Amino acid sequence: MGSGAEFSPLPIRPLTPQLGAQLELELGRGVDEETFRAIYRAFLRYQVLLFPPQDLPPGRQVEFARRFGEVQVHVMSQYHADGHRELYRLSNLDENGRPNGRHPDKGTLAWHTDGSWQRVTGQATIIYGEVMPESGGETHFCDMYGAYERLAPSWKARIAGLRAVHNLDFSRTRRHGEDPLTEAQRLAKPPVDHPVVRTHPETGRKCLYLGDHAEYIQGLPYDEGRALIEELNTLAVHPDLSYEHRWRTRELIVWDNRCVMHRATAYDAATQGRVIRRCTVLGETPV
Ligand SMILES: [Fe+2]
Repeated sequence: MGSGAEFSPLPIRPLTPQLGAQLELELGRGVDEETFRAIYRAFLRYQVLLFPPQDLPPGRQVEFARRFGEVQVHVMSQYHADGHRELYRLSNLDENGRPNGRHPDKGTLAWHTDGSWQRVTGQATIIYGEVMPESGGETHFCDMYGAYERLAPSWKARIAGLRAVHNLDFSRTRRHGEDPLTEAQRLAKPPVDHPVVRTHPETGRKCLYLGDHAEYIQGLPYDEGRALIEELNTLAVHPDLSYEHRWRTRELIVWDNRCVMHRATAYDAATQGRVIRRCTVLGETPV
């Protein structure tokens, strides 16, 4: 595939041969239509976009996210930030700005794709790094187009037509065990099924679509489905189809949840601060 950079008015620097690109853009003063179209083309081409350190007030971040589509208001309302219901803040700082020793969401340490536990799943996730630790707290991305393409033909035949049931209560409460969903949150978000192989609605390419919220496979015995999901989640990650981002403070990253899995790496939450604010844009029902 061509880089596309030569046709774009944007200064684009690919981060790896496969996915990820840095765009030298300041978003704080707003983005005109033509620039946004170029950003969106780069989003579809590179899957992960990095913007250099810059001031981006919460309202501007939400405004930018709305250009991509409808922004999700997360069911876990304890994370809403800065008076914006669309913003979700993950922080381990106490009210005095000191690390409190608690990782705010251990679920993010496992490979996943945002919003796969909803019928209408996540399109872009847009994260601004307010405070970053000196070590750890990275975000890793892997390419799910490539993950599908590299599966052996026997695997592709085996999973064609399969549907996985994704469940936030499974990944959050039962699997990671901390800060569980409330009864009301659980009732608001019942399990949903999605194809294991989805077709990206804009590029038309096939991708593997599982991750940590996928609990079992419809029509298979529970344990067999679990084992299949675990195996595919591992098989999906290829070092040469991944981008590992070590954050600088005040960077912004946008990625496409439909064709990328991501995870955060651990950091020492007792001595280091990490604060991010996040918007997730709603996409569509996977097919
Ligand atoms: Fe995530």
